[in-house]
Amino acid sequence: MITPEKDNTLDSKTYFIETYGCQMNFADSEIVNSIMIEQGHKAADTPENADIIFVNTCSIRDNAERRVWDRLKYFRSLRTRKQQNKTVGVLGCMAERIREKFLDEEKLVDLVVGPDAYRDIPNLLEQVEDGRKAVNVLLSLEETYADIAPVRTTGNGVSAFVSIMRGCDNMCSFCVVPFTRGRERSRSADSIISEITALSEQNYKEVTLLGQNVNSYNDNGTTFAQLMYRACQVNPEMRIRFSTSHPKDFPDELLSIINEQPNICNYIHIPAQSGNSELLKKMRRPYTREEYLVLIDRMRELIPGVALSTDIITGFCGETEDQHRDTLSLMETVNYDLAYMFAYSERERTLAHRKYEDDIPEEVKKRRLSEIIDLQMKNQEAQNAKEVGKTHLVLVEGPSKRDENQLCGRTDTNKMVVFDRKDLERGDYAAVRITSHTAATLKGDVLHKSSIQEFQQHSAAPVLQHA
Ligand code: 5AD
Ligand code: SF4
Repeated sequence: MITPEKDNTLDSKTYFIETYGCQMNFADSEIVNSIMIEQGHKAADTPENADIIFVNTCSIRDNAERRVWDRLKYFRSLRTRKQQNKTVGVLGCMAERIREKFLDEEKLVDLVVGPDAYRDIPNLLEQVEDGRKAVNVLLSLEETYADIAPVRTTGNGVSAFVSIMRGCDNMCSFCVVPFTRGRERSRSADSIISEITALSEQNYKEVTLLGQNVNSYNDNGTTFAQLMYRACQVNPEMRIRFSTSHPKDFPDELLSIINEQPNICNYIHIPAQSGNSELLKKMRRPYTREEYLVLIDRMRELIPGVALSTDIITGFCGETEDQHRDTLSLMETVNYDLAYMFAYSERERTLAHRKYEDDIPEEVKKRRLSEIIDLQMKNQEAQNAKEVGKTHLVLVEGPSKRDENQLCGRTDTNKMVVFDRKDLERGDYAAVRITSHTAATLKGDVLHKSSIQEFQQHSAAPVLQHA
């Protein structure tokens, strides 16, 4: 645990963290929570009620950054009204990318903190009080925040993120992450297992192990497969998920562990980005379409019933109509259960920015993106239709968004199911028979309360097929 250098309770302030972007950012905000609480500060329920507002930012696409600029302008407007003393800080990827410019040119914020500098927040806040520039965007080769126990103030109390590594060395030509989050480094396996054990003791039922590419996890020789094995032994009734995996390295050993261990979820996020080998090369993704498809076949062979999801970028530099059609045909062939689809957004400092022209007109990108989304919706609809009649083990997450009287939760394969409340509570497992579907959700009847082990005993495979 971190120890405060001085008793700050007299300067106790309220703070609010608004988080944008990937799951990794949400996990980082929980680290910042811990640092602030350790200093004697208290979480506020809204930014309007907070003395200090942090915006944890994302730089992955231009529209993500634009949203943050709008919020910063709004926070600035709060300050010019009544709340003169409000402090506004930018955290995360945009802090790293835009740095001092936030203070010099825009004057919207008081402190700028990159993803590896959160331990410095207490000092930086003091610098703000003293009227000094407060910027720390140093990237680190070692920082993993392993000794800081994240404080989870949001979330459903059932499912938690556990960050297992930071940074990325892959240097995909379109991606700004290696520049904003720095070099890849793995957190110690022992500290990860301690965190999962603590979560289990606090009654969490699901953890998602997070990293830009979890498959390259390496803690002094401990591989991701070995880490997963240790993680799933902590509590056989706790589900283990993981994200994201790069197609360049997915060993059979890992696929076998996923299949064999009942509490490791049969769901893999395996971003393809494109279905065309030439474009993949230009994207600096070190696999071909054919190699990717071999991997998908292997996953389905070694993990029967596995659900797969992907990320797709459309309209990358020089993408031809034929290459776009290759992406559509890859999606048709794989038939993903879920996909995150984006139009290419040029980012400064990346190889693509330096070497290639962002030459696909916006309206073409838009049209290709909608073709990709339409196909995915059609595939998802058909995939979900096949679920009707099957029984899944569902982990109850809480009330359904649409109807307070109904509950929702996910299958092992990460599909959202809505069902009647019965005597179930958040955190229970239930056997649910699927009765209807849309492209996004399943509906089902609760058969009975259950557990991972009980459900496993009653079915050879994790999914029971009814006649
Ligand atoms: N433009 C559009 N999408 C991008 N991604 C990463 N960089 C860009 C970019 N410049 C997407 C990739 C990645 C996901 C997290 O975001 O698909 O897997
Ligand atoms: Fe970006 Fe590629 Fe690293 Fe993912 S693997 S974070 S897309 S550089």
